[in-house]
Amino acid sequence: MKSLPDMKGKVALVTGASRGIGRAIARLLASEGAAVAVNYFQSAAAANELVNEIVETGENALAVRADVRDEEQVRAMVAEVENNLGPIDILVCNASIGFPVKPFTEFSWDEFEAKLCGELKSTFFCCQAVLPGMIERKSGNIIAISSTLSRHSSQGFIAHSTAKSGLDAFVRSLAGEVGPFGVRVNVVAPGLTLTDATAWIPDEQKAMMAEMTPLKRVGLPEDVAGAVLAVASDHSRFVTGCYIPVSGGMLTL
Ligand SMILES: NC(=O)c1ccc[n+]([C@@H]2O[C@H](COP(=O)([O-])OP(=O)(O)OC[C@H]3O[C@@H](n4cnc5c(N)ncnc54)[C@H](OP(=O)(O)O)[C@@H]3O)[C@@H](O)[C@H]2O)c1
Repeated sequence: MKSLPDMKGKVALVTGASRGIGRAIARLLASEGAAVAVNYFQSAAAANELVNEIVETGENALAVRADVRDEEQVRAMVAEVENNLGPIDILVCNASIGFPVKPFTEFSWDEFEAKLCGELKSTFFCCQAVLPGMIERKSGNIIAISSTLSRHSSQGFIAHSTAKSGLDAFVRSLAGEVGPFGVRVNVVAPGLTLTDATAWIPDEQKAMMAEMTPLKRVGLPEDVAGAVLAVASDHSRFVTGCYIPVSGGMLTL
């Protein structure tokens, strides 16, 4: 595949990049020439392995630990990335905030709040840490990983749906606010994608989802990474405030 020319010289921070979708995003951005900061929380070995893999290909990468729900840790992470790789051009808010899958009546408020606040705090803190620099440079690109479940419902996913809908609204408002400063903010929304987070879903259910999907399969982390690369690219320079589903046609116009 022909390389896009515009990732060379860019610095990208991908949260939750030690595994799953974030790992595929970090790997693809690096393969297109970006210097990539691989944020992780618990999986240091996996993050370091990815960084070594990227560095072996001749690109620049850095593993950086932070719980993205914690403001101080996020600020320290962004400072570490900017000191080592340079100003952040691309922020991908991807870290997966866990949640129980169960009926609404079985939720405690604490469980519900942990998902809502975790999802919004992580994006809020990361955006606040990178935006002053982006605004000053009049250039920047933020991509939040939402979910097609922000736009439709699925049994047991009420906390996830509610949190990701909030994330979409946050992106919509932020895109309007920072657009005049040359900063783009978009949502990439995966449908069911094969990662550790979905390993518990029975194979029969995945096969049923694939059958219902116009492109006749469920998603892979690399499918989401491709969409993120397209949005991050300067070829998408007039795209902001958009919601891009990556679901094989399960969620359409
Ligand atoms: N998989 C799907 O079907 C699907 C569908 C729609 C949307 N999404 C969204 O896609 C994103 C990635 O999900 P995934 O399926 O790739 O998840 P995953 O395979 O479970 O990976 C989760 C990643 O998030 C990191 N993480 C978790 N909590 C963190 C925290 N507090 N601070 C920093 N990093 C943290 C993990 O890091 P450590 O391992 O280092 O702790 C790991 O790298 C999430 O936003 C998710 O909601 C996924």
